[in-house]
Amino acid sequence: MRKENKEYIEKTLFNSLSGQSLISPYDSEKVLFEPKIRLGILASGNGSNFEHIIKSIQNKQLNAEISILIVNNPNCLAIKKAIENDIPYVIINHRDCNSRLDHDKLVMKKLEELTVELVVMAGWMRIVGEEIINRFKNRLINIHPSLLPSFKGIDAIQQAIENRVTITGCTVHYVQKEVDSGSIIIQAAVPIKEQDSKETLKKRIQDMEHIILPLAIAKVAKKIRTSFKDNK
Ligand code: GRF
Repeated sequence: MRKENKEYIEKTLFNSLSGQSLISPYDSEKVLFEPKIRLGILASGNGSNFEHIIKSIQNKQLNAEISILIVNNPNCLAIKKAIENDIPYVIINHRDCNSRLDHDKLVMKKLEELTVELVVMAGWMRIVGEEIINRFKNRLINIHPSLLPSFKGIDAIQQAIENRVTITGCTVHYVQKEVDSGSIIIQAAVPIKEQDSKETLKKRIQDMEHIILPLAIAKVAKKIRTSFKDNK
């Protein structure tokens, strides 16, 4: 095959793969709601999803403000991103707490203090307890790097590779007691290529995470606004 032709096919394929067809459900229209939703972001790691939430707000894709970033790990790189973007943050180190419940209570207190409306676990490497789940029912979401219900729990990307599946992806879902099990809000599929390493696959999954997490936030925020209206 001629090089130009190959490039064309790859580009076309890439465009269709990275387009609407592999994100589901997908609205081509921006999800509109007023007023801004107040977000609390929980993170433990690099914070690339956190950073993309910030970008979506800046480019007006998402009508939100981040009331607080909560991290459980003082070395979490998300902190740097909060500082660079003038976003308030707090470190609530689980190692300083006597129990999971104590840690959860501190997290919940902070979220309530700031009247956070929607809590986003963006790479939060902790299981949250029932108190938080019940307090933020339908307002607590998580992103997971697999097409749930496949490959729950830790190292989902490695699990997908070891199971030799040819398509994996990422999922944003509501949080419930059983880990990685709440109702699905949005998913993106990512094909696994023969030549993929864990790193190359992770990069493509994360590229999709960065697209679907802000979309999921907007969808849930719209529901929150609508149900408030219905309750009036
Ligand atoms: C993401 O892959 C997410 O699916 C998982 O943790 C990772 C966090 O990445 N829960 P980052 O910290 O947002 O870069």
